[in-house]
Amino acid sequence: MKWSTTKIKAFRKNLLAWYDQDKRKLPWREDHDPYHVLVSEIMLQQTQVQTVIPYYQRFIDQFPNVQTLAKAPEAKVLKAWEGLGYYSRARHLQQAAQQLVRDYHGQWPTTATGLVALSGIGPYTAGAIASIAFNQPEPAIDGNAFRVFARLFCLTDDITQPKTRLVFDQLIRKLIDPDRPGDFNQAIMDLGSSYMRAKEADPAHSPVAAFDESYQTGHVYDFPVKTKKKPPRPFSYYALAIHSPQGWLFEQRPSQGLLAKLWGFPLVDQAELKTLLVSDQIREVSHRFAAEADNPITFTNPGLKPVKHTFTHQHWTMTILTAETAAFKLDYLPARWVSDFSTIEIPTVQKKLLRALNLLPA
Ligand code: ADE
Repeated sequence: MKWSTTKIKAFRKNLLAWYDQDKRKLPWREDHDPYHVLVSEIMLQQTQVQTVIPYYQRFIDQFPNVQTLAKAPEAKVLKAWEGLGYYSRARHLQQAAQQLVRDYHGQWPTTATGLVALSGIGPYTAGAIASIAFNQPEPAIDGNAFRVFARLFCLTDDITQPKTRLVFDQLIRKLIDPDRPGDFNQAIMDLGSSYMRAKEADPAHSPVAAFDESYQTGHVYDFPVKTKKKPPRPFSYYALAIHSPQGWLFEQRPSQGLLAKLWGFPLVDQAELKTLLVSDQIREVSHRFAAEADNPITFTNPGLKPVKHTFTHQHWTMTILTAETAAFKLDYLPARWVSDFSTIEIPTVQKKLLRALNLLPA
């Protein structure tokens, strides 16, 4: 650390004075209740603030405290999460609530070390809760913090390397305001989403412009340093929209992996259909499905535009095939006929298919 004690104090003062003036008014900043901090921080991990706000409010209305979340049916929790993505976050959040009730008798651990024992809580979330709810001088290092501190100090460590976290952690421990650690961490988040954002930053007007080495030296966009991540892997599917007098056939995904236990149209990976001609592929899908369901079925391609969806590591292109059939027994797989889509947990990727078919409003 190259900064003098005087410089560190001046940095805290500028940062917190700006935060007091200009902090974003966000629903989870209305109090310091650890449950509110936990829910908001989990939602904010892979999701933008503007998207999170209405979800956060509905979630807190529906599950106002640890006890109500702990005893809610999992399907209700997933339903409340619907559209936010990364559903394992919701399952871990509920498990953390159950741990707090069962193992901690509702008494929260108040240190970062204690908090990481809870399901789904990593070093970032533990630091955020410890500092914001319990006033502990703990760093909360998310992508924002990496960017802000990398720029302030022109740190050349690759932030995609696990060992780099420790470098930042040690630096932030020297800088964090011991009297207002939660506000310090949240001020860094606000800087990271305004003057020090990834693109179109405005470092000249930042409250800490004088402390920003990357700005002073004209290298703002050279920081943080990260190795390029791999592009998402492409997948092509047929999405089978099968209708009967009892509704649409929905299948439940396996209990492990991407979109675990969520519902939607059955998907067939086109890579598994070795034939080249598209007309043959559709015939093949019909044969396979008819055999599996023990029911005759013929798919047609209605010629809808393929539906695309990108996950962190996968990019899906889905071609919709339709079939009309008599209702048949579904005991061969976890599946059911659905006519009311509001009663079941459906991920965004499947909602896009429903919208393409005009089964949900655009
Ligand atoms: N991003 C992650 N945590 C946040 C918080 N507490 N406030 C604003 N943005 C955030």
